[in-house]
Amino acid sequence: MKHKVAFSFADGKTVFFDTSADELLLDAALRNGVNIPLDCREGVCGTCQGRCESGEYTLDYVDEEALSQEDLAQRKILACQTRVKSDASFYFDFDSTLCDGTGTSTLAARVVAAELVSTTTAILRLDASAQPRQFDFLPGQYARVKVPGTDEWRSYSFANHPNARNELQFLIRLLPNGVMSTYLRERCTPGDMIELEAPLGAFYLRQVERPLVMVAGGTGLSAFLGMLDDLSAKRNCVHPVHLYYGVTHAADLCESERIESYKSNIEGFTVETVVTNATPEWSGKTGLTMDHFDRSFLESNGFDMYVCGPPPMVEAIKTWLIEQGIQDYRLYYEKFGESNAK
Ligand code: FES
Repeated sequence: MKHKVAFSFADGKTVFFDTSADELLLDAALRNGVNIPLDCREGVCGTCQGRCESGEYTLDYVDEEALSQEDLAQRKILACQTRVKSDASFYFDFDSTLCDGTGTSTLAARVVAAELVSTTTAILRLDASAQPRQFDFLPGQYARVKVPGTDEWRSYSFANHPNARNELQFLIRLLPNGVMSTYLRERCTPGDMIELEAPLGAFYLRQVERPLVMVAGGTGLSAFLGMLDDLSAKRNCVHPVHLYYGVTHAADLCESERIESYKSNIEGFTVETVVTNATPEWSGKTGLTMDHFDRSFLESNGFDMYVCGPPPMVEAIKTWLIEQGIQDYRLYYEKFGESNAK
């Protein structure tokens, strides 16, 4: 039985390959041209050390000088002694350039549609089925997208998860004079070809081992749609997932039905929508997203928090967590600016 494996590196690059039944992870990597640094191949030197971010695995021999009990509890692994038992992702704390054969792919995809999903937001749907194989990325990662007819590239988080049809989605904020926005408003036609470079980024869903708190600012929602699509499809999440979705104006809100639909497939899924500059017609929550965090839950439960949005929002949440004395959490975040508006 084959399992799909992702290796992510400190420089944000990710590479994917398959392992054969009971194959050592190092052998599978080498067979696929991913030359992880190694020395002893016997679980002693620790050179091939990484960390399993998601998935199941077993370890053959691990010398205590190479990994301590604490390291093992943190899911650190030695690639030369690891056998994966499910699809899995691993992180290595060195740049991909140390391993030949890694890196991002460039691909061309055909425009299926650009749909307005709020007054300020579009979903760009692409068809990359001309690719010979499934195009892989980790839910939450992003692509650089070349704006057709220009030499400009913009970065957008995938708004869906990898699939056999190679359908790709991106949630895109429409800016008054943005290069991509102008293309989408004025020239985008089904059948246009778009060049992409992907997958990129270290913001992706790790193994779900405790409650998840997701905080989306504006089109930062895109990364979470990808993660939630993935959790919905796998139906194996046994921890509650709380999504906080903050926007500046109510007119920015989008994909409400899709977000509601996650309640059917992810047990314990909740969503809070918060509008910062609300008009009297808005009857929901207002202010800053973190004003509505369930503080007693955060104080009494260990959790993993993922934040994707504008830099001030991310910084404000980091500060809030420290000031409130919240202790037991892991924080993953991605910031984006307007020119690369995701
Ligand atoms: S190469 Fe030495 S521990 Fe893996």
